[in-house]
Amino acid sequence: MFDNRITRMLGVELPIIQAPMGYIARSALASAVSNAGAMGIIETSSGMLDEVRLEIAKMRDLTDRPFGVNIAQAFVSDPGIVDFVVDNGVRFVTTSAGDPTRYTEALKSAGVTVFHVVPTLRAALKAVAAGVDGLVVEGSEGGGFKNPRDVSTMVLLPLVASKVDVPVIGAGGFLDGRTMAAAFALGAEGVQLGTVMVATQESPIHDNWKQAIVAAAETDSVLLNRHRAPAVRVLRTERTNALEFDTTRNAMDDMAMFRSLYFEGDMEAALPLGGAVSGRIESVRPVAEVLEECAADCLRIIGELAERYRD
Ligand SMILES: Cc1cc2nc3c(=O)[nH]c(=O)nc-3n(C[C@H](O)[C@H](O)[C@H](O)COP(=O)(O)O)c2cc1C
Repeated sequence: MFDNRITRMLGVELPIIQAPMGYIARSALASAVSNAGAMGIIETSSGMLDEVRLEIAKMRDLTDRPFGVNIAQAFVSDPGIVDFVVDNGVRFVTTSAGDPTRYTEALKSAGVTVFHVVPTLRAALKAVAAGVDGLVVEGSEGGGFKNPRDVSTMVLLPLVASKVDVPVIGAGGFLDGRTMAAAFALGAEGVQLGTVMVATQESPIHDNWKQAIVAAAETDSVLLNRHRAPAVRVLRTERTNALEFDTTRNAMDDMAMFRSLYFEGDMEAALPLGGAVSGRIESVRPVAEVLEECAADCLRIIGELAERYRD
């Protein structure tokens, strides 16, 4: 179906990556993604490396397909993280939230394929110079940590894709075949899905968060902490609404009670990270259904457009 640099480099059928997300990108979700033919990712941003090691071990029981690990550099400063990944037999790593020169060489010399997540053209060029195999180019509509100087996927993705030779994966705003086809038109060869994966049946967070995504309008995400790095895109709640224009506080201080949010479903306990695409998510579905429909619709839409606008 899909045959491009991403499917070949990653050894997957579908050029779709599940986003790394602290505590959420664990084996239940990632194995469902890998088993559906895409790339499941295990997070390290929780910093709980003992738990992560167990999650990687579980992946081997749950799937025989490829999966990867994200090194979220701002959250894992352990210099042993490269050995940790390599010793656990991981062949694909995305690095994010940090300097691409830090781990790329060591990972690549161990035979690992490395993609770096970038929020600007400048960061993209720096990552390419550091020798990464590819880029995840993430626009500011995506959920989670962001560059405070925000730029949308619509502008950033074609800009970066036109200036680099390495394969590019688009992130921020993608969830279905129509948006995936758009990513291809903008120069990407794959997409990374975050918020829509939070709202799947296999996602391990509390159902209240999933239902909040389903209930959200397209205006119900907020970029907090623009006055200081890192900015973070979250779902609109009473707590996050009050923080939207508050430049006196670090919104990240509101993450202290994250366990009550993630696992007990108290939506006001902390910041529910989430993207603007929440406004397009209408139900909680199984991962395989989301990915199969996304891939099939993408190919159908590309085919229809080629037919419709043939010269
Ligand atoms: C709940 C949540 C947690 C996230 N945590 C991380 C993380 O630990 N590391 C990272 O690189 N990106 C993280 N992100 C960003 C995602 O990797 C992804 O790029 C983004 O969600 C894509 O945009 P979308 O939400 O529109 O799909 C997170 C996003 C969400 C929604």
